[in-house]
Amino acid sequence: MPLSPSPSLDYLKEQITAVLEDPATGHGLSRTLRAATKEIEISRFHRTSSSAWPNGRIDTAPANVQIGGGAHRIEGFFNIDAVPPADLLWDVREGIPLQDGSVQCMFSEHFVEHIDYPRSAKLYAQEAHRVLASGGRLITGVPDAAFLLKHYPANPGLADEMVKRWYSKRDCVGDINTFLDLINYMFRDQGDTPNYTPHHWAYDQEKLTQMFREAGFESVEAWDFDPAIANPKRQWGSVYVLATK
Ligand SMILES: C[S@@+](CC[C@H](N)C(=O)[O-])C[C@H]1O[C@@H](n2cnc3c(N)ncnc32)[C@H](O)[C@@H]1O
Repeated sequence: MPLSPSPSLDYLKEQITAVLEDPATGHGLSRTLRAATKEIEISRFHRTSSSAWPNGRIDTAPANVQIGGGAHRIEGFFNIDAVPPADLLWDVREGIPLQDGSVQCMFSEHFVEHIDYPRSAKLYAQEAHRVLASGGRLITGVPDAAFLLKHYPANPGLADEMVKRWYSKRDCVGDINTFLDLINYMFRDQGDTPNYTPHHWAYDQEKLTQMFREAGFESVEAWDFDPAIANPKRQWGSVYVLATK
């Protein structure tokens, strides 16, 4: 779908590009402008989709939905993400574009920590509750802050395993020098690359349970990991809960 016209955003992006190309621009401003560029990109995709669905609800009613799946596909699930690839490009910080009570199962993995807390995370919990049918299931997996903190200060073997499993494909490996660096990455991963959205908040089972109960879910319990839905590479060091409406 071609992007909807947005002269003011295009102009802003042009201006930002010019400032970023100027060698006099310092690191602090560059970093902030790179983050703004990412937000402009997300906003362009979102505006395009929301101009097709101005009341914020798409026509179709998928029974199974994955939020923030990135490249991870699940058979029979409709994928909503802020950026491609996805079935629908939508910034979930603006709500979930589905009809009330229409979804049987909603799944996300390593997504919730990438949206700001409390405003967007709590809105996500409320919106998930709204779109689920009675008895519908919300499955949420996040990096488990309790697992990490329980091991502080960690033995070097465990720290090495964490770095290998979580960060071996990132360019930050050389900067994880102590166990506290690992903790910092979980709480406030500030990945400064064009295709990475940072971590905004850390979660454990207690926090997820509290947030989904507050949003109105009847029950929240530990989820039995199912590799047909979740990514087996994510299981280690993550916590998954099942919230039922
Ligand atoms: C760390 S990736 C996880 C991808 C996949 N779930 C996995 O476990 O490999 C976070 C995903 O959340 C998506 N995301 C971040 N903020 C979002 C937002 N506001 N609305 C929709 N998707 C968002 C990103 O585009 C990305 O695909």
